[in-house]
Amino acid sequence: MEIVSSQAAPSKQPCDCLVVGHFSDKSFKEHSRVLDAATRAQLLALEKSGDLVSELKSSVVLFCPTTPFKRLLILGLGKTKNFDARHLQTALQTACTALTKLNCKTVTFDLDTFIPIKKDFLQYAQLSARMIGENCYRFDRFKSKATPLKLKKMILVSNTSPAAAFKEAVSLGATIQEGMHLTRDLANTPANHCIPKTLADTAKKLVSAKNKVTVKIHTRAQIEKLKMGAFLSVAKASAEDPFFIELHYRGGKATDKPTILVGKGITFDTGGNSLKPAASMVGMKYDMCGAATVLGVFKILAQLKLKINVIGLIPTCENMIGGNAMRPDDVITSMSGRTIEVLNTDAEGRLILCDALTYAERFTPKQVISIATLTGACVATFGHVTSALLTNHQPLAASLLDASLSAHDKAWQLPLWPEYQPLINSAVADIANIGGPTSGTITSACFLSRFTEKYHWAHLDIAGTAYTMGDGKKNASGRPIPLLVEFLRSKA
Ligand code: BES
Ligand code: ZN
Ligand code: ZN
Repeated sequence: MEIVSSQAAPSKQPCDCLVVGHFSDKSFKEHSRVLDAATRAQLLALEKSGDLVSELKSSVVLFCPTTPFKRLLILGLGKTKNFDARHLQTALQTACTALTKLNCKTVTFDLDTFIPIKKDFLQYAQLSARMIGENCYRFDRFKSKATPLKLKKMILVSNTSPAAAFKEAVSLGATIQEGMHLTRDLANTPANHCIPKTLADTAKKLVSAKNKVTVKIHTRAQIEKLKMGAFLSVAKASAEDPFFIELHYRGGKATDKPTILVGKGITFDTGGNSLKPAASMVGMKYDMCGAATVLGVFKILAQLKLKINVIGLIPTCENMIGGNAMRPDDVITSMSGRTIEVLNTDAEGRLILCDALTYAERFTPKQVISIATLTGACVATFGHVTSALLTNHQPLAASLLDASLSAHDKAWQLPLWPEYQPLINSAVADIANIGGPTSGTITSACFLSRFTEKYHWAHLDIAGTAYTMGDGKKNASGRPIPLLVEFLRSKA
């Protein structure tokens, strides 16, 4: 599905459906310019009759045989004063649900009728493009009788904003949505179809000299040579080869220090010998969402041509059981030389990430951001709404929280105070891989912080936000791509 912008009059745009918004405190007379006389008369009559609903989540479809648009979809938007990004999301979700049920290929959205705010109009236009894409997403690769999406082209129109800026805002939203689409497809793909090699192959496909993206795939032998002992210990019991994926985007000067994104790429997490209970194991195909996020961001970077340098590091393997699986009590040696006492083999994410974080040192980065579905404790605290943010450098957290607000991709900071550090002390090794029954998200970050002392670092725990629970069914969300892209754009 293509998402484009246009400055043509919405009513003149030939299409299968024109979508307009209707606020409860506004009359259709106010935007009658979009309609021809016959449709306008019909609408005014509808309004007079009291049948024209205006509450959020409501919609009406009219057939318009005499206009260039074959149908008119009127979306209820509630009160103007309540308008915000969340309302916009609800309205666009209602629109997309209605549109997917109609026989429509090309749809025009008259954005001037549903963004009532002049200030931030372009930000909302960008969000609209992104949200339309997000709401039309479906994953039917494994359905033997899939009904393909009929929608082919969404045209976003505004006649009230500067042409070039509007075009750029819509195109940015569309590009972000495409990256999220890649992330969601990878994440939704089950672990018997999405193995570490799948992630490595996806990274290779992002390479192009024109796009300034290069990729290095480190194989098991090379990972051994790098002495990534913690990563290899997790990968040991899997029949699939582990990979360490290194992506480079060189949009800045050669001397510009890179921002590094590190993504957890566990394609399936059984828990290992500290086996997960059956119900908790369902959904563990999503344990590579950090990795899929990094790949999605690189797809977007290649298109946005930002003038910055970004490196993506993805350790990817499975956490399986078997005769040679790592055991609780084992002591392993990380790439940093520090020893780790494995008290729980299900706390594997931090073990693969710590070696990637040590590897990151060689690039003397400007900052490093790790992204991982790291702790169940994060889901218990924040549900599927908010990503947890932890850092060793407060200004970095401040920029990420700013980006989170602008992108409407929620994150909230948890403390990384020194009082928590002793919880991961070990009696036999340098560090233990778990910190006891309390403050699980904080102690997981304490563990990572031991490997990030040489640079500014922030960590996003996306265990809850990487997927939604719509209709009780899990579906990858593509988050926190919007937050990260906004952050990277603010640095370019
Ligand atoms: N992949 C899980 C975290 C997770 C849980 C992600 C639920 C999404 C939903 C991680 O590897 C894990 O198992 N963490 C353990 C850590 C514990 C053993 C200290 C957890 O959170 O239970
Ligand atoms: Zn685990
Ligand atoms: Zn895990």
